[in-house]
Amino acid sequence: MSASEKGSEALFDLDDLKKNTARLDVSGIDFATFGDQPLSAGGLRCLRYMHDVEYHTVCYMRDLLVTKAHQDHEIASFLTFWCFEEYWHGEAIGQVLKAHEEGAHAERVQPLRARIRRREAFKPWLHSLGSMIAGREWLAVHMTWGAVNEWSTQAGYARLIAAERHPVLTDLLKRIMRQEGRHIDFYATHARAALASSGRAQRLVRFALERAWSPVGAGVMPAEEVDHLTRFLFTGSDGMAAAQRIDRQIDRLPGLGGLSLLERSITARAA
Ligand SMILES: [Fe+2]
Ligand SMILES: [Fe+2]
Repeated sequence: MSASEKGSEALFDLDDLKKNTARLDVSGIDFATFGDQPLSAGGLRCLRYMHDVEYHTVCYMRDLLVTKAHQDHEIASFLTFWCFEEYWHGEAIGQVLKAHEEGAHAERVQPLRARIRRREAFKPWLHSLGSMIAGREWLAVHMTWGAVNEWSTQAGYARLIAAERHPVLTDLLKRIMRQEGRHIDFYATHARAALASSGRAQRLVRFALERAWSPVGAGVMPAEEVDHLTRFLFTGSDGMAAAQRIDRQIDRLPGLGGLSLLERSITARAA
């Protein structure tokens, strides 16, 4: 039985994903507009971050595939489509950077990968060891972590739309957000099912989030970039309200009430 059949609020359906997975459609997006109507310096800095983190999905997938994830057909299938879609998000955001006469694609990705190569080399070992010790419960950590990160990504794009009020950027990010919505459905469905079936998973996930969670991309990007993105998108009343909405979604997962992950992280970084 798939997680989508087990979950009480199942949203994810693999057949649906197979039908809908696609390279991001950028037809009709006039990237040249950014030449006359550029984004703000702060907004562009957020986009550089988003570009790098979207492209980093293949490395996140590498860490997942050394766990029991590769034994589960539904999860392995999702990861295949997920990585493909995130790749094209990186490509499209790179086109926005290029339109601002900024480096993008390999020009940014290669030096980033070189900079973090030692840390990255360690990660598959860590996740393989975690999976050997904790078994299926380690997968519950990944599924929940993925749900929090996809919720945060979706909210980040919505906040950037609101901050920039740029019609071409809005069009592009809304197209990306539609695909992010399906990623949310997968991770939230699997996280809920894994947590509902095991008190041990709840305790492990809660412990991992409390001790080790940081905003999506924080393990890849420099700390000052994480702080900038946090302040630019998630401070002020609207930003904090968006973060609190994610905290409430986390609260609704079995055994994860009251963590206030996003609010605590933002308060610490904005100080
Ligand atoms: Fe994405
Ligand atoms: Fe995503």
